[in-house]
Amino acid sequence: MNKEIKRIAVFTSGGDAPGMNAAVRAVVRTAAYYNLHVYGIYGGYEGMINGNIKRLEKGDVANIIQHGGTFLKTARSLEFKTEEGRALAYDSLMAHDIDACVAIGGDGTYTGANVFTQSYDVPFIGLPGTIDNDIYGTDFTIGYDTAINTAVEAMDKIRDTAHSHNRLFFVEVMGRHAGYIALNTGIGTGARYTFLPEVDNPLEHLVQLLQKSSKRNKLFNLVVVAEGNKSGDAMTIAQKMKEEYDIDSKVTIIGHLQRGGSPTAFDRVLSSRLGYSAVKSLMEGKQNVALGLVDNKISFTTFADAISKKKTIDADLIKMSEILSI
Ligand code: F6P
Repeated sequence: MNKEIKRIAVFTSGGDAPGMNAAVRAVVRTAAYYNLHVYGIYGGYEGMINGNIKRLEKGDVANIIQHGGTFLKTARSLEFKTEEGRALAYDSLMAHDIDACVAIGGDGTYTGANVFTQSYDVPFIGLPGTIDNDIYGTDFTIGYDTAINTAVEAMDKIRDTAHSHNRLFFVEVMGRHAGYIALNTGIGTGARYTFLPEVDNPLEHLVQLLQKSSKRNKLFNLVVVAEGNKSGDAMTIAQKMKEEYDIDSKVTIIGHLQRGGSPTAFDRVLSSRLGYSAVKSLMEGKQNVALGLVDNKISFTTFADAISKKKTIDADLIKMSEILSI
């Protein structure tokens, strides 16, 4: 028999992502509507360990839907990886009579939730919050749409100057293990080529493409580089291009710009739907699952599957991006 949920804690963890505030707002407001109490854990798992937990009323989440970052703060906690750390975290939750938690974050956040819930009887619901869009069990993660729009805007600006000077630019975007940001930024900006973590991208291939470009008198080229690709970061690739092929280029690293900024309408709606569904799911007795959006419907995936299964990048999209840049 599932215990009745009266007090829910919510926290954000791992890398911040635009839309996290909107998700927390949705959790707080939905819970308030159903007369449940919500507590905010400040600083992710670190805050849970240290007992940095405060009551959140519906007014506490006013005027945040449009803000990037996370007002609950976030962290990547090493201590939570230890049994002692998790025991302290449990004590903090019990000190506030917390019945269930909503964890908003990525892979590391889900891994923490999975380990914790195997030892302690506190139901968790996970919401996918990462700009990388690399979580299994959801078509989109919170923050991804905003991040690619930021990258596209930057690329458009770089295109202006690349075109004016007839230059080759390597533009590095985030994505240590996943190429979603890179691939879709490349497609959305008509990049000449995209380096992805998921595939091999030999430099010779790029050199051949640049030769073809120059034959058709295309003298500027934009290349997107996912930070975790196999050929090295954008700076390394640019250096190799110079040393091995005597090709000059410029490098721009968009970096953490992609993590900030006002969430797009898509991210606000996604976050709101997920936060609302998290509370409803807990009330219906669901536990230890990650929520997502698949085919525009809320979906449920066990933490174990969300962590162990890999969301693969669509090979046809990669082919399409190459075809469209000929
Ligand atoms: O997981 C999101 C992400 O933005 C990755 O794309 C990136 O590699 C990483 O976080 C950077 O993390 P940090 O801000 O901790 O250096």
